[in-house]
Amino acid sequence: MRVLVTGGAGFIGSNLVYALVGSHEVGVIDDLSTGHAENLHPSAWNRTMDILDESLSEAFAEFAPDAVMHLAAQSSVPRSIQDPVRDSAVNVDGTRLVAAVAAAAGATRVLSASSAAVYGEPAEVPLQECSPTVPVNPYGSSKLAAETALAEQLTGTGTDFASFRFSNVYGPRQDSEGEGGVVAVFCSELAAGRTPVIHGSGEQTRDFIYVADVVAAIISALEFDGKLCEGEPCGPAYNISTGEEVSVTGLATALRPIAGFYGSYGSARERAGDVMRSSLDSSKAREVFGWESQVTLDVGLGPTYRWFARS
Ligand SMILES: NC(=O)c1ccc[n+]([C@@H]2O[C@H](COP(=O)([O-])OP(=O)(O)OC[C@H]3O[C@@H](n4cnc5c(N)ncnc54)[C@H](O)[C@@H]3O)[C@@H](O)[C@H]2O)c1
Repeated sequence: MRVLVTGGAGFIGSNLVYALVGSHEVGVIDDLSTGHAENLHPSAWNRTMDILDESLSEAFAEFAPDAVMHLAAQSSVPRSIQDPVRDSAVNVDGTRLVAAVAAAAGATRVLSASSAAVYGEPAEVPLQECSPTVPVNPYGSSKLAAETALAEQLTGTGTDFASFRFSNVYGPRQDSEGEGGVVAVFCSELAAGRTPVIHGSGEQTRDFIYVADVVAAIISALEFDGKLCEGEPCGPAYNISTGEEVSVTGLATALRPIAGFYGSYGSARERAGDVMRSSLDSSKAREVFGWESQVTLDVGLGPTYRWFARS
């Protein structure tokens, strides 16, 4: 299969590309705004460009993908608050453009990265795909609007599609800023011998999912032989998550033996736009295309910390 990965120089995208190369023909489109040239796989077809560039359709036509994994995005909540207009342009208009040019280039499936942020502050956890979507920051709003744009663009075209609502992804190659950043921030601070800071009470919870689990979900969905856009309940939306709710304090505790840190964490005020609780039920992904997470937090934190402590 020829798979085009937008955002393939980023955290999740580069982990996906490295997993795909060898069994698939892989193309990457990335403007390197938050991704890194050293993440690019030398055997992939790599194109440095903005997905909003008017030559996007030519790049898609040249690579001629069978399937697209759209990961390119403005991926940071704080940046979405600082510059909501750019956030919306990249995440909403960009997703619509990718969907349109993918279908025109003959792709039979487009998977798009959405986020737990579309739900906002949950009334109850774990969240299911049909739970209310009430985003509390521009990033969550743009991700929700991107889901709508994807569906508007591809419904009835013969190109299958789905939006994957990732919970907080962590693992090697994550930058210590960005949406799922708390694991990366703690690991990078500890690896540098500094004291990490917990924002707010530390009782806020997240559903931390290891990047290899996310990569496995994407590959399962790429290879699925049914229609993802008609999955029930709630059509093309799929939670990609563990269903486990872990507090930031719990994360800090789990990292202690891995990093050999037994001092006190620092504290600072709550960050704007953060929700108090997050946990997503991913049983729909298991029932529709046979994926479920495998890696527990204790297991995933080891290679993650070692990656930050390398060199
Ligand atoms: N990391 C998480 O915890 C998490 C959680 C939920 C959703 N997501 C979503 O998953 C996707 C990947 O996230 P990530 O953590 O790997 O982020 P990332 O920032 O590492 O990767 C995004 C990539 O997209 C590229 N990019 C950004 N704007 C672009 C543009 N206009 N044109 C071309 N390329 C562009 C960046 O250079 C980067 O390589 C994003 O859509 C993000 O919103 C991530």
